[in-house]
Amino acid sequence: MKTIRLKNNQINYPIFIGSGLYADIGKLCKQYIDKDRVFIISDSVVSTLYKPEIIRAFKTAKVKCIFISISVNEKKKNINTVINLSNRLFSYNVDRQDTVIAFGGGIIGDIVGLTASIVLRGIKYIQIPTTLLSQVDSSVGGKTGVNNIYGKNLIGSFYQPQAVIIDTDVLNTLPKRELLSGYAEIIKYGIIKDTIFFEWLQKNGKKIIEGDTAARIHAIHKSCMNKSKIVEEDEKEHGIRALLNLGHTFGHAIESLNGFKKSVVHGEAVAIGIILAVRLSCIEGYTNETTFNKIITHFKEIGLPTQLPKKIAKLTAKNFVSEMVKDKKTINKNITLILVKDIGNAFIKKGISQSKLIKLHKEITT
Ligand SMILES: NC(=O)c1ccc[n+]([C@@H]2O[C@H](COP(=O)([O-])OP(=O)(O)OC[C@H]3O[C@@H](n4cnc5c(N)ncnc54)[C@H](O)[C@@H]3O)[C@@H](O)[C@H]2O)c1
Ligand SMILES: [Zn+2]
Repeated sequence: MKTIRLKNNQINYPIFIGSGLYADIGKLCKQYIDKDRVFIISDSVVSTLYKPEIIRAFKTAKVKCIFISISVNEKKKNINTVINLSNRLFSYNVDRQDTVIAFGGGIIGDIVGLTASIVLRGIKYIQIPTTLLSQVDSSVGGKTGVNNIYGKNLIGSFYQPQAVIIDTDVLNTLPKRELLSGYAEIIKYGIIKDTIFFEWLQKNGKKIIEGDTAARIHAIHKSCMNKSKIVEEDEKEHGIRALLNLGHTFGHAIESLNGFKKSVVHGEAVAIGIILAVRLSCIEGYTNETTFNKIITHFKEIGLPTQLPKKIAKLTAKNFVSEMVKDKKTINKNITLILVKDIGNAFIKKGISQSKLIKLHKEITT
């Protein structure tokens, strides 16, 4: 098992990464909880697959486990679900010594994290992510959130977990499409700040998708290291943490314009968003065609989408840009984007005019 410690003056928690961790997960969690019971919150798919195994492990550790399974998707990732989940916890007389465990993908993690941050003004929570995306990104760093009618993740909090426990075995049941979605967030770290990791992915990326445990552990470890370093420096996104949003302003607009339907999942929207951000970096002269080609070639080889879905490409540039303006980083309608100078060298560009985005939209849709 590999351990990373995310640590600065305010934050200090471990991220455990390994294979076969569920057998002893009750014992592993015990040191982070204040009493002998936990609430495990999961989605219906993950419950069906892993509930008996997890309950057994907590029983062995003599921890009572209240397992709550909820049905979630991007459309249900909203404040009503948080309220309903809070009420379920109150129905069990939740108190401030209780701990909730987010056991599922990024949607469960974001909902449970937000719920934990507001129930009784904050109770402890542990992340046990079960998708590649949540293992390399959303379970680490304490961003919680839900969507509303104005857009993606607009309601949320920064609230750090007590621990993150990543078992790669769970990825063996994850559909290929979801693995690829997680891969988009992995490659993001390479493009933002880690050229060597990007090159490693060029050679080994396929192994991650095909099920090679060592390759998965390496990629998850590298991703969590990269993310931890950024979060340690800038927890609340006053500066460099924004780099992690590479592709996301475009991506969130795509998800939102698609009505948060499953036909485009988060990582797919981010993959397309990264391509658009690098394309814009080219048009603006920050980077060159060679960099763009290296990135798009790798995306195509691995099987990530690189073009706007037809339905969204048909919308007008104005539609698209007005959706992008809703991003959390927008100030006075000025859009901030993460652009690239090279692979491993992304930067924050503030004040992007809407006309530049309209020009980009024209280039990619005609
Ligand atoms: N908080 C953050 O910092 C952060 C970062 C990135 C993404 N996110 C959020 O994460 C969400 C996407 O997360 P996701 O991609 O994990 O989606 P998800 O939670 O919807 O999971 C994807 C699908 O995989 C299923 N699943 C989960 N684990 C499984 C397993 N082991 N085997 C088989 N099926 C399994 C789920 O039931 C679901 O159908 C988005 O809402 C995004 O906004 C948050
Ligand atoms: Zn993301």
